[in-house]
Amino acid sequence: MKTRITELFGIAHPIIQGGMHFVGFAELAAAVSNAGALGIITGLTQRTPEALANEIRRCREVTDKPFGVNLTFLPIVNTPDYPGYVRAIIEGGVKVVETAGNNPQAVLPALHGAGVKVIHKCTSVRHALKAQSIGCDAVSVDGFECGGHPGEDDIPNFILLPRAADELKVPFVASGGMADGRSLVAALALGAEGINMGTRFIATKEAPVHENVKQAIVAATELDTRLIMRPLRNTERVLRNPAVDRLLEKERTLGNRIKFEDIIDEVAGVYPRIMTEGLMDAGAWSCGMVAGLIHDVPTVKELVDRIMREAESIISGRLRGML
Ligand SMILES: Cc1cc2nc3c(=O)[nH]c(=O)nc-3n(C[C@H](O)[C@H](O)[C@H](O)COP(=O)(O)O)c2cc1C
Repeated sequence: MKTRITELFGIAHPIIQGGMHFVGFAELAAAVSNAGALGIITGLTQRTPEALANEIRRCREVTDKPFGVNLTFLPIVNTPDYPGYVRAIIEGGVKVVETAGNNPQAVLPALHGAGVKVIHKCTSVRHALKAQSIGCDAVSVDGFECGGHPGEDDIPNFILLPRAADELKVPFVASGGMADGRSLVAALALGAEGINMGTRFIATKEAPVHENVKQAIVAATELDTRLIMRPLRNTERVLRNPAVDRLLEKERTLGNRIKFEDIIDEVAGVYPRIMTEGLMDAGAWSCGMVAGLIHDVPTVKELVDRIMREAESIISGRLRGML
């Protein structure tokens, strides 16, 4: 399947693995790229630019296919050394960066100067248009269904994607709620040129996270996610657990007086305990509604091949049969 996204990134299949904190290590990114899709290392999971440089080297040892790095601009107090991370990306020869969280303008000149393509992930048409206007090469349009940060507009992909298609000139992929060949064909029909998946890629053999995380996703239904941190305007979709219930109770009790410090136990520094140690109730962790469509833990290659097979059979079988 050839789209403007496969052409732009030099990949065989129009599928991207979105950056994921404490999930997007070299093992997963390389497995995704080796399967013909685009794997992405999560930049800020590496504590320093040197650690990221090393992770990029580790990835390159196991794949000769294109892979990317995610740079998330966070609303946090201690700003990471973004120029250092950008240097590590450029010196590591990485040719794709997925930006997210905030306007990536500050890093664009350096990245573009080094021939790096930038795909900006955002949750609204206005932010997508802004990304296009500042020169991003592509956009990842992240609907309300998505795991992680869906923004504050709450527009699901059935509306958001055709709206993006009506307005954007740069190619875009559909992100949020994507799981299988049906998702891919629907995304293409709505105007996207591919899909970006987060949660689905966690439940794969190669994802370097604790087995408990994969099983929690397989066991979850589409009813099991919750939105947290809305009063802080930093909304995150997470899998429900006792820590999330506790956090939501604090939000209810404190109302608009709530501060980040009030929920610090449930959200700060919890990712290594959950993803690495498998302590599933240690805090809140991002997970999409798409968990309701995930029932197995295949290898990344099995997953990507299955999505492409299913998409092709829908297009050339079911849809053609309706004409
Ligand atoms: C566990 C987890 C961690 C994530 N961490 C990040 C992150 O650090 N930076 C980022 O840009 N997106 C992050 N995301 C969002 C994903 O890249 C992707 O946009 C999202 O998962 C798409 O929705 P889906 O889960 O329905 O596929 C994360 C998602 C999950 C599930």
